[in-house]
Amino acid sequence: MVKLIRTTNELISCRDQEKERIGFVPTMGNLHAGHISLLEKALRDNDVVYFSIFVNPKQFGPSDDFQKYPRTLEDDLELIQKCNSNFEGKKIVVFAPEKPQEVFPLNYSQTVAVPTFNNIVEGRFRLNHFDGVATVVYRLFEIVKPHNAYFGLKDYQQFLVIRQMVKDLAMPIEIIGMPIIRETTGLALSSRNQYLSTEQKQEALNLYQSLLKISNFIDGKKAKLAMAKKEINTILLDAKWNYLEMRDAETMSEDLTKSSRITLVAVYQLGSTRLLDNLQLEVK
Ligand code: PAF
Repeated sequence: MVKLIRTTNELISCRDQEKERIGFVPTMGNLHAGHISLLEKALRDNDVVYFSIFVNPKQFGPSDDFQKYPRTLEDDLELIQKCNSNFEGKKIVVFAPEKPQEVFPLNYSQTVAVPTFNNIVEGRFRLNHFDGVATVVYRLFEIVKPHNAYFGLKDYQQFLVIRQMVKDLAMPIEIIGMPIIRETTGLALSSRNQYLSTEQKQEALNLYQSLLKISNFIDGKKAKLAMAKKEINTILLDAKWNYLEMRDAETMSEDLTKSSRITLVAVYQLGSTRLLDNLQLEVK
Protein backbone atom coordinates (compact mmCIF):
# COMPACT_ATOMS: atom_id res chain seq x y z
CA MET A 1 0.00 0.00 0.00
CA VAL A 2 1.23 3.50 -0.89
CA LYS A 3 -0.01 6.42 1.19
CA LEU A 4 0.59 9.98 -0.01
CA ILE A 5 1.00 12.73 2.59
CA ARG A 6 1.29 16.42 1.70
CA THR A 7 1.66 18.13 5.08
CA THR A 8 4.10 17.82 7.97
CA ASN A 9 1.38 17.64 10.60
CA GLU A 10 -0.22 14.67 8.88
CA LEU A 11 3.19 13.03 8.51
CA ILE A 12 3.97 13.45 12.20
CA SER A 13 0.68 11.89 13.29
CA CYS A 14 1.15 9.00 10.85
CA ARG A 15 4.71 8.47 12.11
CA ASP A 16 3.55 8.57 15.76
CA GLN A 17 1.43 5.48 15.14
CA GLU A 18 4.26 3.36 13.75
CA LYS A 19 5.42 0.59 16.06
CA GLU A 20 7.80 -1.18 13.71
CA ARG A 21 11.12 -0.69 12.00
CA ILE A 22 11.14 2.37 9.74
CA GLY A 23 13.34 2.84 6.71
CA PHE A 24 13.65 6.26 5.08
CA VAL A 25 14.58 7.27 1.53
CA PRO A 26 14.89 11.02 1.05
CA THR A 27 14.82 12.22 -2.58
CA MET A 28 14.09 15.28 -4.67
CA GLY A 29 11.87 13.25 -7.00
CA ASN A 30 12.27 12.83 -10.77
CA LEU A 31 12.91 9.23 -9.91
CA HIS A 32 14.96 6.70 -11.85
CA ALA A 33 16.21 3.16 -11.25
CA GLY A 34 18.87 4.45 -8.84
CA HIS A 35 16.19 5.80 -6.46
CA ILE A 36 14.13 2.63 -6.87
CA SER A 37 17.14 0.52 -5.83
CA LEU A 38 17.20 2.51 -2.55
CA LEU A 39 13.48 1.94 -2.08
CA GLU A 40 13.81 -1.81 -2.73
CA LYS A 41 16.63 -2.13 -0.21
CA ALA A 42 14.62 -0.12 2.34
CA LEU A 43 11.61 -2.38 1.77
CA ARG A 44 13.73 -5.48 2.24
CA ASP A 45 15.31 -4.18 5.48
CA ASN A 46 12.31 -2.59 7.21
CA ASP A 47 8.62 -3.06 8.04
CA VAL A 48 7.54 0.30 6.65
CA VAL A 49 9.30 2.79 4.38
CA TYR A 50 8.96 6.57 4.41
CA PHE A 51 9.94 8.11 1.09
CA SER A 52 10.23 11.88 0.72
CA ILE A 53 10.02 13.88 -2.48
CA PHE A 54 11.07 17.42 -1.76
CA VAL A 55 13.04 19.82 -3.93
CA ASN A 56 15.07 21.49 -1.23
CA PRO A 57 15.62 25.20 -1.95
CA LYS A 58 18.48 25.37 0.57
CA GLN A 59 20.82 23.20 -1.47
CA PHE A 60 20.59 25.23 -4.69
CA GLY A 61 23.03 28.07 -5.37
CA PRO A 62 22.05 31.29 -7.17
CA SER A 63 23.23 29.87 -10.52
CA ASP A 64 21.60 26.44 -10.04
CA ASP A 65 18.10 26.46 -11.32
CA PHE A 66 15.81 25.62 -8.41
CA GLN A 67 12.69 26.67 -10.34
CA LYS A 68 13.59 24.52 -13.33
CA TYR A 69 14.30 21.34 -11.34
CA PRO A 70 11.91 18.74 -12.83
CA ARG A 71 8.87 18.06 -10.65
CA THR A 72 7.27 14.83 -11.83
CA LEU A 73 5.14 13.68 -8.89
CA GLU A 74 2.65 11.65 -10.93
CA ASP A 75 5.35 9.63 -12.72
CA ASP A 76 7.26 9.23 -9.45
CA LEU A 77 4.19 7.83 -7.68
CA GLU A 78 3.66 5.39 -10.52
CA LEU A 79 7.22 4.05 -10.16
CA ILE A 80 6.81 3.76 -6.39
CA GLN A 81 3.49 1.93 -6.81
CA LYS A 82 5.08 -0.48 -9.29
CA CYS A 83 7.93 -1.20 -6.90
CA ASN A 84 5.51 -1.71 -4.03
CA SER A 85 3.63 -4.37 -5.98
CA ASN A 86 6.72 -6.60 -5.65
CA PHE A 87 6.64 -6.22 -1.86
CA GLU A 88 3.15 -7.30 -0.97
CA GLY A 89 1.91 -6.27 2.44
CA LYS A 90 4.55 -3.57 2.97
CA LYS A 91 3.54 0.04 3.46
CA ILE A 92 5.23 2.99 1.76
CA VAL A 93 4.45 6.46 3.05
CA VAL A 94 5.32 9.08 0.44
CA PHE A 95 5.88 12.54 1.88
CA ALA A 96 5.62 15.10 -0.91
CA PRO A 97 5.18 18.46 0.84
CA GLU A 98 2.79 20.81 -0.92
CA LYS A 99 5.08 23.77 -0.34
CA PRO A 100 8.59 24.40 1.07
CA GLN A 101 7.10 25.87 4.27
CA GLU A 102 5.91 22.40 5.22
CA VAL A 103 9.55 21.45 5.74
CA PHE A 104 10.98 24.86 6.61
CA PRO A 105 8.33 26.92 8.38
CA LEU A 106 8.58 30.69 7.89
CA ASN A 107 11.64 32.09 9.70
CA TYR A 108 13.12 28.63 10.23
CA SER A 109 16.59 29.53 11.45
CA GLN A 110 18.58 26.33 11.94
CA THR A 111 21.53 25.47 9.74
CA VAL A 112 23.36 22.22 10.13
CA ALA A 113 26.93 22.39 8.86
CA VAL A 114 29.50 19.63 8.53
CA PRO A 115 32.70 21.65 8.15
CA THR A 116 34.93 18.58 7.65
CA PHE A 117 33.51 18.12 4.18
CA ASN A 118 31.64 21.21 3.09
CA ASN A 119 34.38 23.32 1.48
CA ILE A 120 36.37 20.69 -0.37
CA VAL A 121 36.02 18.93 -3.75
CA GLU A 122 32.34 19.43 -4.79
CA GLY A 123 31.91 21.98 -1.98
CA ARG A 124 34.34 24.37 -3.73
CA PHE A 125 32.06 24.43 -6.76
CA ARG A 126 28.78 24.71 -4.84
CA LEU A 127 29.07 27.13 -1.97
CA ASN A 128 26.78 26.23 0.96
CA HIS A 129 25.38 23.26 -0.95
CA PHE A 130 26.30 20.67 1.68
CA ASP A 131 24.99 22.88 4.50
CA GLY A 132 21.70 22.95 2.59
CA VAL A 133 21.73 19.16 2.25
CA ALA A 134 22.64 18.55 5.91
CA THR A 135 20.00 21.04 7.05
CA VAL A 136 17.17 19.41 5.09
CA VAL A 137 18.20 15.86 5.92
CA TYR A 138 18.44 16.75 9.61
CA ARG A 139 14.98 18.33 9.46
CA LEU A 140 13.51 15.30 7.65
CA PHE A 141 15.18 12.92 10.11
CA GLU A 142 13.65 14.95 12.92
CA ILE A 143 10.17 14.55 11.42
CA VAL A 144 10.42 10.93 10.22
CA LYS A 145 12.63 9.53 13.01
CA PRO A 146 13.72 6.53 10.94
CA HIS A 147 15.82 3.61 12.13
CA ASN A 148 17.61 3.28 8.78
CA ALA A 149 18.17 5.82 6.00
CA TYR A 150 19.33 5.10 2.45
CA PHE A 151 21.47 7.25 0.17
CA GLY A 152 23.00 6.62 -3.25
CA LEU A 153 26.77 6.58 -3.36
CA LYS A 154 26.75 8.55 -6.60
CA ASP A 155 26.76 11.61 -4.37
CA TYR A 156 29.65 10.19 -2.40
CA GLN A 157 30.56 13.41 -0.60
CA GLN A 158 26.91 13.92 0.37
CA PHE A 159 26.92 10.41 1.87
CA LEU A 160 30.01 11.28 3.95
CA VAL A 161 28.43 14.58 5.07
CA ILE A 162 25.28 12.83 6.28
CA ARG A 163 27.14 10.00 7.97
CA GLN A 164 29.30 12.56 9.79
CA MET A 165 26.28 14.67 10.77
CA VAL A 166 24.53 11.67 12.32
CA LYS A 167 27.69 10.76 14.20
CA ASP A 168 28.33 14.32 15.43
CA LEU A 169 24.75 14.76 16.61
CA ALA A 170 24.50 11.20 17.99
CA MET A 171 21.32 10.55 15.99
CA PRO A 172 20.23 6.92 16.40
CA ILE A 173 19.97 6.31 12.65
CA GLU A 174 21.89 3.85 10.52
CA ILE A 175 23.09 5.47 7.27
CA ILE A 176 23.25 3.01 4.41
CA GLY A 177 25.08 3.86 1.17
CA MET A 178 23.90 2.05 -1.94
CA PRO A 179 25.95 1.35 -5.08
CA ILE A 180 25.68 3.52 -8.15
CA ILE A 181 23.29 2.18 -10.78
CA ARG A 182 24.68 2.52 -14.30
CA GLU A 183 23.41 2.25 -17.85
CA THR A 184 24.97 -0.64 -19.76
CA THR A 185 27.35 1.94 -21.26
CA GLY A 186 28.68 2.69 -17.76
CA LEU A 187 27.04 6.12 -17.47
CA ALA A 188 25.81 6.62 -13.89
CA LEU A 189 22.05 7.19 -13.71
CA SER A 190 21.19 10.76 -12.86
CA SER A 191 18.26 13.11 -13.33
CA ARG A 192 20.76 15.35 -15.11
CA ASN A 193 21.30 12.85 -17.95
CA GLN A 194 18.03 13.97 -19.52
CA TYR A 195 19.65 17.31 -20.34
CA LEU A 196 22.30 15.67 -22.54
CA SER A 197 22.09 15.58 -26.33
CA THR A 198 22.87 12.30 -28.12
CA GLU A 199 26.43 13.50 -28.82
CA GLN A 200 26.93 14.65 -25.23
CA LYS A 201 25.69 11.30 -23.93
CA GLN A 202 28.37 9.63 -26.01
CA GLU A 203 30.99 12.07 -24.73
CA ALA A 204 29.80 11.51 -21.16
CA LEU A 205 31.16 7.95 -21.28
CA ASN A 206 34.60 9.50 -20.95
CA LEU A 207 33.80 10.13 -17.27
CA TYR A 208 33.41 6.55 -16.03
CA GLN A 209 35.95 5.22 -18.52
CA SER A 210 38.56 7.61 -17.11
CA LEU A 211 37.78 6.53 -13.55
CA LEU A 212 38.13 2.89 -14.56
CA LYS A 213 41.35 3.60 -16.39
CA ILE A 214 42.91 5.19 -13.30
CA SER A 215 41.57 2.45 -11.03
CA ASN A 216 43.02 -0.24 -13.33
CA PHE A 217 46.28 1.63 -13.46
CA ILE A 218 46.49 1.75 -9.64
CA ASP A 219 45.50 -1.92 -9.45
CA GLY A 220 45.23 -1.84 -5.64
CA LYS A 221 48.86 -0.79 -5.23
CA LYS A 222 49.70 2.22 -3.11
CA ALA A 223 53.06 2.47 -4.82
CA LYS A 224 51.25 3.39 -8.02
CA LEU A 225 49.42 6.42 -6.61
CA ALA A 226 52.12 8.94 -7.56
CA MET A 227 52.11 7.73 -11.16
CA ALA A 228 48.31 7.73 -11.15
CA LYS A 229 48.42 11.39 -10.17
CA LYS A 230 50.46 12.11 -13.31
CA GLU A 231 47.93 10.18 -15.36
CA ILE A 232 45.16 12.27 -13.80
CA ASN A 233 46.98 15.49 -14.66
CA THR A 234 47.12 14.42 -18.30
CA ILE A 235 43.40 13.57 -18.30
CA LEU A 236 42.65 16.96 -16.73
CA LEU A 237 44.08 18.75 -19.79
CA ASP A 238 40.56 18.32 -21.20
CA ALA A 239 38.87 21.49 -19.91
CA LYS A 240 35.52 19.72 -19.50
CA TRP A 241 36.64 18.32 -16.16
CA ASN A 242 35.59 20.43 -13.18
CA TYR A 243 37.78 18.12 -11.15
CA LEU A 244 39.11 14.59 -10.98
CA GLU A 245 40.70 13.80 -7.64
CA MET A 246 42.02 10.95 -5.55
CA ARG A 247 41.05 11.28 -1.91
CA ASP A 248 40.92 9.11 1.17
CA ALA A 249 37.54 7.34 1.00
CA GLU A 250 36.68 7.97 4.67
CA THR A 251 38.10 11.42 5.43
CA MET A 252 38.40 12.88 1.93
CA SER A 253 41.90 13.98 2.88
CA GLU A 254 44.36 14.52 0.04
CA ASP A 255 47.01 12.81 2.10
CA LEU A 256 46.84 9.16 1.09
CA THR A 257 49.88 7.89 3.00
CA LYS A 258 47.76 6.11 5.62
CA SER A 259 44.80 5.27 3.39
CA SER A 260 43.55 1.77 2.86
CA ARG A 261 40.57 2.87 0.78
CA ILE A 262 40.63 5.71 -1.66
CA THR A 263 37.95 7.35 -3.73
CA LEU A 264 38.24 8.77 -7.21
CA VAL A 265 35.74 11.61 -7.42
CA ALA A 266 35.02 13.58 -10.54
CA VAL A 267 32.75 16.03 -12.31
CA TYR A 268 32.74 16.23 -16.08
CA GLN A 269 30.82 19.16 -17.50
CA LEU A 270 29.02 19.01 -20.82
CA GLY A 271 27.42 22.34 -21.69
CA SER A 272 25.80 23.46 -18.46
CA THR A 273 25.30 19.88 -17.20
CA ARG A 274 27.69 18.79 -14.47
CA LEU A 275 27.97 14.99 -14.37
CA LEU A 276 29.20 13.49 -11.09
CA ASP A 277 30.76 10.09 -10.69
CA ASN A 278 33.09 8.27 -8.34
CA LEU A 279 34.51 4.93 -7.43
CA GLN A 280 36.16 3.49 -4.37
CA LEU A 281 39.14 1.16 -4.29
CA GLU A 282 41.20 -0.67 -1.72
CA VAL A 283 44.93 0.00 -1.74
CA LYS A 284 47.81 -1.80 -0.06
O1 PAF B 1 20.39 13.34 -3.02
C1 PAF B 1 19.35 14.04 -3.04
O2 PAF B 1 18.41 13.82 -3.81
C2 PAF B 1 19.23 15.20 -2.08
O3 PAF B 1 20.46 15.84 -1.93
C3 PAF B 1 18.63 14.84 -0.71
C4 PAF B 1 19.52 13.88 0.03
C5 PAF B 1 17.26 14.24 -0.93
C6 PAF B 1 18.47 16.09 0.13
O4 PAF B 1 17.65 17.03 -0.46
